[in-house]
Amino acid sequence: MAAAVSALFLAGLQGADAQVPCDPAKCVHPACVCPSITPPKGMDPQKAPQFVTLTFDDAVQKTLVDVTSSLMASHRNPNGCPIPSTWFVQTLYSDYALVQQWYAAGNEVADHTMTHVGSPPVDEVAGNRKAINAFSGIPYSKMTGFRAPFLNYTKGTFDILGQEKIEYDSSTTADTTTAFWPYTLDNGLANDCWNGICQAGVVQPGMWEIPMHAIMDDSTPPIAHNMDVHLEIKDTAKLNQLLRDNFNEHYTKNRAPFGIYLHPVHVGTSNDTYNSFFTEILKNQDVWFVTNQQLLQWMKNPVPATELANQDYMKCTRPAVGKEICNGLDDTKSGTIDTGVLEVCNFAAGPWSTCYGCPKTAPSPADPVPERVVVAGTPGARTAVPVTCAMEWWDPVAAQCLCTSSNCTFTDTAIKPTASGTPGAKPTGSGDKGSAAGTLRVDGAWVTLGLAASIAAGLVQML
Ligand SMILES: *[C@@H]1O[C@H](CO)[C@@H](O)[C@H](O)[C@H]1NC(C)=O
Ligand SMILES: *[C@@H]1O[C@H](CO)[C@@H](O)[C@H](O)[C@H]1NC(C)=O
Ligand SMILES: *[C@@H]1O[C@H](CO)[C@@H](O)[C@H](O)[C@H]1NC(C)=O
Ligand SMILES: [Zn+2]
Repeated sequence: MAAAVSALFLAGLQGADAQVPCDPAKCVHPACVCPSITPPKGMDPQKAPQFVTLTFDDAVQKTLVDVTSSLMASHRNPNGCPIPSTWFVQTLYSDYALVQQWYAAGNEVADHTMTHVGSPPVDEVAGNRKAINAFSGIPYSKMTGFRAPFLNYTKGTFDILGQEKIEYDSSTTADTTTAFWPYTLDNGLANDCWNGICQAGVVQPGMWEIPMHAIMDDSTPPIAHNMDVHLEIKDTAKLNQLLRDNFNEHYTKNRAPFGIYLHPVHVGTSNDTYNSFFTEILKNQDVWFVTNQQLLQWMKNPVPATELANQDYMKCTRPAVGKEICNGLDDTKSGTIDTGVLEVCNFAAGPWSTCYGCPKTAPSPADPVPERVVVAGTPGARTAVPVTCAMEWWDPVAAQCLCTSSNCTFTDTAIKPTASGTPGAKPTGSGDKGSAAGTLRVDGAWVTLGLAASIAAGLVQML
């Protein structure tokens, strides 16, 4: 694996930057942003916040949410808010109620396809958001990001993202020479040029690319490590040093966002390593953990680190509805979320819960929102969140929006995903061929596992 990464890295060193001409006179902020290693609008890097994006991938399950808590719960941003994170969710093997709770806690949910397929067909991308909207209540306008499973994408993937009005992709990787701030795809991709994608005309005006910034090691030449770095750098002392050195490379220079990209299933005892690192960097008052959506909000309206605490999108006030409704929050501070109001749905891939009514069949790309067991409009049916109410304020049992003040009004104005079975939207991707066999590629790292044994052990979420 290291050899493959190394070869890619060496190819990537050959001047990716210059491969995407971008004329700053024509590409005007904030609608268009050129790939750049320096902050937007000429901001002095030492005045910019040092953003840290912690991301998680794949299915959302109780044991995995616990892993994320073990990495996040003890840390606070400079404004005292809990550190947020982005989860690239696959719906297969996920618990929809936990997806809702993750979002309700102030984190971001992004699209990682329904069943985790590389270079996915449109129904995998669209169906994911439809199923999460229906069974987790998350509005479309809050699910705006995408990461390709296995980080495997093509130009066609970006065409699908454009069609689906996805706001940003975060599937490309960056080494030292391509450690760009987020940029728009008005002129094409400027990362992963080694695979020819920079010449492929991946032009999606206004769509953002958030490159995944690698941890460079101390080999000669350095090898780029992208996801689950601890799996490749097993010497803890060395990993500690590399995390700090790489962070300082960002912090003391151009302050391009620094990323930690994890599969919760792989974290294991490395939570201690990451925790001590997070504690250390958060001692700096200009270091902020952000979701990818928060990062883009800053990119569109960059403010110095000293003003970040005043931005609405960095605040962490949670709604207080005063009684237990099914909204992903512990409304009555009882210690458990949505006590007694969740429905448990049993399917072959495992049981999951929802506030919005069990479907008759498991959601799938062909039918992401199957008819409910209790049909809408009949007694006992749950009512979907209307576009005019924020999920946190919606009581799906009483079919009532509890927001009565102007500070909680919300309208989901997002353009909906395309219908499944759209003519011409036949699957074109590779699918997960071979995934029933023993060897699978987990977002950039090959792992071997027995699928049946993994399912028995509850580890299928690692796919
Ligand atoms: C880190 O993970 C281990 C299990 O691998 C767990 O026992 C420990 O409590 C975790 N640490 C924190 C701070 O949650
Ligand atoms: C909304 O405003 C009310 C007063 O108008 C205040 O009590 C409440 O805390 C606010 N809620 C949020 C979520 O900001
Ligand atoms: C990535 O996608 C391409 C094109 O669909 C396919 O040929 C290839 O096998 C995929 N690779 C992985 C690792 O999924
Ligand atoms: Zn994945």
